[in-house]
Amino acid sequence: MALIGIETSCDETAIAVYDGQRGLLAHVLHSQARMHAEYGGVVPELAARDHVVRLVALTREALNRADLAAKDIEAIAYTAGPGLIGALLTGGSFAAGIATALDVPLIPVHHLEGHLLAPMLETPAPEFPFLALLVSGGHTMLVHVRGVGRYEILGESLDDAAGEAFDKAAKRLNLPYPGGPELARLAEQGKPGRFRFARPMTDRPGFDFSFSGLKTAFGLALPADADEQTRADLAWAFEDAVTDTLAIKCRRALETTGLTRLVVAGGVGANRRLRSRLQDYASANNVALYFPRPEFCTDNAAMIAYAGWCRRHEAAATIPSRARWPLDELSPAH
Ligand code: KG4
Ligand code: ZN
Repeated sequence: MALIGIETSCDETAIAVYDGQRGLLAHVLHSQARMHAEYGGVVPELAARDHVVRLVALTREALNRADLAAKDIEAIAYTAGPGLIGALLTGGSFAAGIATALDVPLIPVHHLEGHLLAPMLETPAPEFPFLALLVSGGHTMLVHVRGVGRYEILGESLDDAAGEAFDKAAKRLNLPYPGGPELARLAEQGKPGRFRFARPMTDRPGFDFSFSGLKTAFGLALPADADEQTRADLAWAFEDAVTDTLAIKCRRALETTGLTRLVVAGGVGANRRLRSRLQDYASANNVALYFPRPEFCTDNAAMIAYAGWCRRHEAAATIPSRARWPLDELSPAH
């Protein structure tokens, strides 16, 4: 079965073609990041309007790259939520339009399920069960993944997501949006040890996170007239605190559950310090560590097409798009 996946939950317009036998055939993406940079963050209305402009051309391009015609497509999967409702509705309406025209099933996909299943597109793919650290601009959670749709959220952020904290700290440094990668780049010039921030919530049991205090502490530590070295040293300390906090909770969750596979998903998974920290722990403790390639860590349609394929028997009669959609409402795939 060949199907199209459509992702429009935030500021990436992405289309992919996945085939049950042949695997991923094509994935294309347009990032709106530059358009939103001017405003220092995603402007929901602009995001929705831009998806509308891009969807048709990107779909044609994905079909061309897959060397398929529209008539070869047997289902349309799209991100139904969670995300920006206007942005979601553009992808949902477009998906419903082509599904109706082609007379094929329309499959709603949960964006976070897409992220959790993204590593399955890689070789070798992790076997179930595994622990997933999902760290993006909108979410920070530790999930015990037993199978498709069998997700137990062990912990999550009570306030800001890790990526959001990176972006807000970067904004204080007047770095361009999205600031996470920019702050990480600045941190490479930083001297270790000059500043130190707390590791929030690591001194109490459990797996929840809180990053908003860290962001505030960072703002207070940053002098208005900070020189370049001080900015870099503070960036280093901030990155150190966020990545150490994430690594401590991962370690705790692995030890508590006895799981021996750890998957890192979401945009912050691109962070090099986080990767090397987790790698060090995994190598020393016989844990198999899986990172999807960077373009599958950040928002993309390949993961939506794949999740759609896993749920190919769950067609929707209407177009449900939901700004909020708790992950643990999902059930195992049919
Ligand atoms: O998963 P994603 O592309 O989008 C969603 O939020 O769904 O994640 C984007 C987030 C942004 O907050 C961005 O600043 C952060 O991931 N990010 C990073 C790095 N690369 C992306 N944060 C820290 N270090 C990085 N290298
Ligand atoms: Zn995402």
